[in-house]
Amino acid sequence: MNEHIKPQSISERADHLEEEMMHELERVVSKSTLHYLADGEVKMDTSAGLWAKHPGAKFNMGPDPRLPPMPAKPTLIDYFKCRFAQHAHLLQSATHALKNGCNEKVILACLLHDIAVVSFIRCDHGYWGAQMIEPYVDEEVSWAVRTHQALRFFPDEAAGYKYPDMYVKLFGDDYKPEPYIVAEYERARNHKWYMTSRLICINDIYSFDPNMKVNLDDFVDIVGRNFRQPEEGLGFDNSPSSHMWRTMMWPNRFL
Ligand SMILES: [Fe+2]
Ligand SMILES: [Fe+2]
Repeated sequence: MNEHIKPQSISERADHLEEEMMHELERVVSKSTLHYLADGEVKMDTSAGLWAKHPGAKFNMGPDPRLPPMPAKPTLIDYFKCRFAQHAHLLQSATHALKNGCNEKVILACLLHDIAVVSFIRCDHGYWGAQMIEPYVDEEVSWAVRTHQALRFFPDEAAGYKYPDMYVKLFGDDYKPEPYIVAEYERARNHKWYMTSRLICINDIYSFDPNMKVNLDDFVDIVGRNFRQPEEGLGFDNSPSSHMWRTMMWPNRFL
């Protein structure tokens, strides 16, 4: 029998009804100013503007149904799976650090060093990433994540780090880091945790290998031992950065 003309069962009809109700309840999803700025426009979604397009609509104040659903008490691993656009670079860096015999703080720092890029924002990614993880990791780890942003631009050949050829390709050979990055580097150079941050750069640079086998499961225990997962779920824990995790969870809430 052609399944398209098969009469609907009661449960199929119930599913259909539920789907129709969901559509009726559908909320209009709005964008933050930042999303428009990223497209080169200085503008924002106002309620009046959205009502002109969707008369009488209600606006989304919960999860965006287009995104993978997050559990009620999300963990860092859930964000890796449901919100980080790419894992490979982070997993490759962490795997490299693991194989190089680095300690767990360095491995965790490598695993998290670019989380701002893959989840949130590129500009000043070291600073954003450090702030996101600061309440949950050893201070040395967040310091290293913040500082790797500056150290990336300054070679330390004695430690095994050359200026990346890729940066010449990406930014041109005349690119000079801004003064605040130079100042950050100068502060970091004599800091007691300098090598932790330098090790992020060292394990980062060789980690773009398409053939390298990586698995998030390899790092679940290291995360468990070194990342203080809040009981309430990451984002619901009232830490100084929990709003950042909530924003990743619900990037299109109206307010
Ligand atoms: Fe980075
Ligand atoms: Fe990186």
